[in-house]
Amino acid sequence: MAILLIMLAALAVPPQARDPGERAFQRCAGCHSLRPDDSQSVAPSLHGVFGRRAGTAEGFAYSPALREAGRRGLTWDAATLAQFLEDPEAAVPGTAMPYQGGPASERAAVIDFLRRRAP
Ligand code: HEC
Repeated sequence: MAILLIMLAALAVPPQARDPGERAFQRCAGCHSLRPDDSQSVAPSLHGVFGRRAGTAEGFAYSPALREAGRRGLTWDAATLAQFLEDPEAAVPGTAMPYQGGPASERAAVIDFLRRRAP
């Protein structure tokens, strides 16, 4: 009986809630899609963002600041994502991302989540 209850409890947890990174990504999901070639008007797709040059997702009109940062070589990895999410405006002055990436522990979880999804 106890085992059955535990199994039922596990089934009741939505799959995304089991992964802290995916759960933390819900803060980003209002603006960012994770599907390829799915940049919305509000924000670029983060599909494959890990290892990608900044400002280069198809179909999104980036701020000049982020495009220029990418031209100068800014590429998204654990370190650059950590800086950007901690303080987007300090990392890329002039960026149009109107959001700071939440508490430090969630930022780390989100970065780990994006790294695990890298192609
Ligand atoms: C309120 C909307 C909004 C939220 C919430 C948001 N972002 Fe953004 N994000 C943007 C916009 C807009 C840009 C494009 C900025 C520019 O062009 O300067 C952006 C850009 C980015 C980029 C650069 C992408 C690239 O292709 O160079 C990364 C990485 C990023 N966001 C990660 C995140 C993460 C991770 C979260 C959640 C912790 C998040 N964002 C939450 C709006 C948002």
